[in-house]
Amino acid sequence: MAAPQTSPSPVADRSQGAPAPLHAGLVMDGNGRWARRRGLPRTLGHKAGVDALKRTVAAAPDLNIRWLTVFGFSTENWNRPTTEVAELMALPQRYFETDLARLEREGVCVRIIGSRQGLSPELVRIIEAAEARTAHNDRFFLNVAFNYGAQADIARAARAFAEDVAAGRAKPSDLDEAQFGARLATAGSPPLDLIIRPSGEQRLSNFLLWEAAYAELIFQDVLWPDYGAEHLRAAVEIFAARDRRYGAVRADDVLAAG
Ligand code: IPE
Ligand code: MG
Repeated sequence: MAAPQTSPSPVADRSQGAPAPLHAGLVMDGNGRWARRRGLPRTLGHKAGVDALKRTVAAAPDLNIRWLTVFGFSTENWNRPTTEVAELMALPQRYFETDLARLEREGVCVRIIGSRQGLSPELVRIIEAAEARTAHNDRFFLNVAFNYGAQADIARAARAFAEDVAAGRAKPSDLDEAQFGARLATAGSPPLDLIIRPSGEQRLSNFLLWEAAYAELIFQDVLWPDYGAEHLRAAVEIFAARDRRYGAVRADDVLAAG
């Protein structure tokens, strides 16, 4: 079988010469708790979270991260009170209004992954403008998962393939990991190396489930609005100390076993 596109890079790629640039996933969590601890409304936690995103994106390239996929709004976040949903829906505008020119200038290519269904026409326009203005950039790739759920994305990809089969454009036997991965919202991004979740919660919450196959999971005890360059550096250091074997064994273990 052909090597699947979304499979991990061979270990050798990571161990020779300069380390390969990383693709990190980031669950921006803890805005509400941050606000509550200060006796503030949750809105202010979300606002402070946008500043943390700006700091983190600015710090990432120097830490050898070239692809960053952040979780901004999950398909399950619709279950929050209407007023909070409205606040969360306003965040992309808040982010791009103040930062899009800089992102564009600094070579960041922005993509918003997730369903556009249920988003206001105004928000869709803002998202599309951000993507169009930065589409030519290739220094750094920022995927913003917004109205995203990994299970929905996987179901959508499966449905798209089934439709191709029904229309005679594909055969069931054509489907392998590469074909499937190429239909996911993250298609075009390299394999995911690590997922970072601050705020102390230790779960994936329907974020990048397929892509996480061989990602290192790093949980940090800091609330997202407090996050910054030093936390991202610590996460990359933890990642660098991990022993990634992709289901294989280390060469020296093979030798030791005779
Ligand atoms: C993350 O912070 C923002 C989103 C999920 C959109 P939370 O709002 O989940 O903050 P906590 O978990 O209540 O502290
Ligand atoms: Mg939360």
